[in-house]
Amino acid sequence: MSKLVINPLNRKSKINREIYGQFSEHLGRCIYEGLYVGEDSPIPNVNGMRTDVVEALKAIKIPVLRWPGGCFADEYHWKDGIGPKENRKKMINTHWGGVVEDNSFGTHEFMELCRQLGCKAYINGNLGSGSVQEMSEWVEYLTFDGLSPMTELRKENGREEPWEVAYFGVGNENWGCGGHMTPEHYANEYRRYETYCRNYHQDKQLYKIACGPNEDDYNWTQTVMKICTENVPANEKRLNGLSLHYYTTTNGFGDKGSATEFTPDQYYTVLSRGLKIEELIRRHSDIMNQYDPNKEIGLIVDEWGTWYDVEPGTNPGFLYQQNTMRDALVASTSLDIFHKHSDRVKMANIAQMVNVLQAMILTEGEKMILTPTYHVFKMYSAHQDCTLIDSFLETEEIGTDAAKVPNLHESASIAEDGTINLSVSNLSASEAYEVQSILVETKVSDVSAMILTQETAAHNTFEDPDHVCAKPFTDFKVTEKGIDFTIPACSVVQFAIR
Ligand code: AHR
Repeated sequence: MSKLVINPLNRKSKINREIYGQFSEHLGRCIYEGLYVGEDSPIPNVNGMRTDVVEALKAIKIPVLRWPGGCFADEYHWKDGIGPKENRKKMINTHWGGVVEDNSFGTHEFMELCRQLGCKAYINGNLGSGSVQEMSEWVEYLTFDGLSPMTELRKENGREEPWEVAYFGVGNENWGCGGHMTPEHYANEYRRYETYCRNYHQDKQLYKIACGPNEDDYNWTQTVMKICTENVPANEKRLNGLSLHYYTTTNGFGDKGSATEFTPDQYYTVLSRGLKIEELIRRHSDIMNQYDPNKEIGLIVDEWGTWYDVEPGTNPGFLYQQNTMRDALVASTSLDIFHKHSDRVKMANIAQMVNVLQAMILTEGEKMILTPTYHVFKMYSAHQDCTLIDSFLETEEIGTDAAKVPNLHESASIAEDGTINLSVSNLSASEAYEVQSILVETKVSDVSAMILTQETAAHNTFEDPDHVCAKPFTDFKVTEKGIDFTIPACSVVQFAIR
């Protein structure tokens, strides 16, 4: 019997709802087909956005959406995507599949999508191949309401009022696809570009995000933090967030592996590689603490998730992959880790929302399926904006010779109305475990729970869309001290404890 101790008296940081953020890039069938089908499509839509997908996404309470990339962001010229659609420039999406990008989804369409989803906008500007003026004008076009050429242009294009843009990324992966820069060079460029991303509203300041490290590139973090924070007057906030990108593959980018066909070794290897994000967050945070001891600058994990070989027969540049219970566990354990580091991790954006990498939703023509990862996001949405509370779970090491992981993983939070949200995952492919939980100084009167469980490679298909879905969980007992339960192999359980 594993012991789980939860102490609601020990309240920690707020779990920003933005930790449940999403990412949508002009890549494969994420935007086109997945989210946007155009007003004339036979697929039901509102202003071109597919209704089925938008409704399903609303149910998981999307707090923020990042766009237009990714690598695409650093070759995107926003003025190509405004004005009458028939006049918009066509281009080749050189990063992703070499397909024609007709720019029919641009700034106005993205802001309309955010409106329909009821989420905040996170726009990623082009530092790699764009100019300071271009980035500055985009911010002006989006957010200014005074007399200016960009305001006039926006009005000519049918939008009178400025939009609210919460987050603005100053370049993406500028150590790689965004210009192959050194950290010194990028940090100085950040200072220059950021200066002209004006704050037009004192009460709604842009949250500016610098390109952060790839995985364990600690030198990048050290250098960018140093240069971007030095000689900045205390009352000026020029850097609000630093991004971190980490993808989970089976054995590195040279051997990404299959999404659905894997051995026990590969199952545990992926889970173990997913858990590595904890060490990355801890070590990058340690460096950030040197320059920002009060934790005012957020670590923004704006690309994370699993990355496998594409589904056989699909365009290799479209990054279309299936999604199994293994991915559900990478999602649940990563979200637990973000919760536990929510004093520094202020936003995270899983890659990507529809039809690309570890997606919430897959589409095929007019059909749509929800992935196991979607169900985790839905169950876990209870944690949004709650306060992390102290939890400790006794675990044992399991796995194969190839990779070891803890058998169980957990996080807990408390809502304003006193409800305790507890998430527990069982990473074992075959063993169920009994858990005895103790809730310090808490009288439990009412418990409800949901479970997502299946064998490790189980996934939903267009023929069998509900093979993996969350169901009510009743295998628990309320005790004097808390609750006891048995958690089946390969599962995620979400409790609401009152
Ligand atoms: O999410 C796919 C790609 O991964 C993004 O475009 C890029 O930023 C990262 O390398």
